[in-house]
Amino acid sequence: MTDGPLVLGIETSCDETGVGLVRGHTLLADAVASSVEEHARFGGVVPEVASRAHLEAMVPTLERAADRAGIALHEIDAVAVTSGPGLAGALLVGVAAAKALALGLGVPIYGVNHLAGHVAVDQLEHGPLPEPCLALLVSGGHSSLLRVEDVTAGVQPLGATIDDAAGEAFDKVARLLGLPFPGGPHIDRVAREGDSAYVDFPRGLTSRRDLERHRFDFSFSGLKTAVARWVEARRRSGEPVPVADVAASFQEAVCDVLVRKALDAATSEGIDDLLIGGGVAANSRLRSMAEERAAARGIRVRVPRPGLCTDNGAMIAALGAELVARGRPPSDLDLPADSSLPVTTVVA
Ligand code: KG4
Ligand code: ZN
Repeated sequence: MTDGPLVLGIETSCDETGVGLVRGHTLLADAVASSVEEHARFGGVVPEVASRAHLEAMVPTLERAADRAGIALHEIDAVAVTSGPGLAGALLVGVAAAKALALGLGVPIYGVNHLAGHVAVDQLEHGPLPEPCLALLVSGGHSSLLRVEDVTAGVQPLGATIDDAAGEAFDKVARLLGLPFPGGPHIDRVAREGDSAYVDFPRGLTSRRDLERHRFDFSFSGLKTAVARWVEARRRSGEPVPVADVAASFQEAVCDVLVRKALDAATSEGIDDLLIGGGVAANSRLRSMAEERAAARGIRVRVPRPGLCTDNGAMIAALGAELVARGRPPSDLDLPADSSLPVTTVVA
């Protein structure tokens, strides 16, 4: 086994109850219980349902992680937990569990930023983060471009979505096309059989005028409306909707804007390493497009494997282990669950 602090990470910001165990940069266990099926019929995550599911899943998920790692809880050096951003009631469950563990075990607690966790997790797969690096984080709850100088000290936001998150757009368009929730993986799958040039859907915030004010920001609500109008017009005229072609064209529009802006930000910041994280980073077209276009500009791309891109406890443990290794001070035991924790705050 490699050296380094043994850190337990707890993640409950949305619908995944995640408990991870990390020693240094080595992943020992990553147990995740998802309540996604309980939300499916509502077409989105219902906060109260998510909180209750976290409460029920917390202890069994913790036991599963410890079992898989083959460790006893008293061996842990520190506990890390997502303090925010996320759903308030869901965060509270994780923060309360982490406090109880830290107090009971007599170890420090780190209340950390969920987004910094999405960045730090890549260390478990590809080794130490290149610093500085540019991070594109895209999920159901967030879409941000960040400059990461030192993931334990601070993260500088360069841009973010001004309306829907990228994953939210995937989920809403999937619903329009009659695909199940969460829609991202289904769009990814059906788009493989489709023509991505079938419809030229709008690329949000890319006009010259928009770029003056929103150079590195994203907007996906106009795209979603454009898809809805196109599908409605087809249905009204009695023609069948070519689901694979519409999915592929929509996916192409989202990926085009994400990759274009991420690479422009990297070039403008003089950064050669782009890291992509969050649930949407699992998208096959996003990965291939980013790799192709980045290579042409001499930029390296790092994307963790899909299981580490979606929300999990290992990402929080990975960040916690890095905080301990770099000697950063822990949080107070009265640390908050902060649903709108700013991305610039790594430790609450
Ligand atoms: O990071 P995550 O698990 O949770 C949030 O913090 O939101 O991301 C979930 C989001 C969902 O919107 C889902 O549709 C999207 O990630 N997603 C994908 C793919 N896999 C998951 N979107 C596009 N393509 C995929 N393959
Ligand atoms: Zn996330």
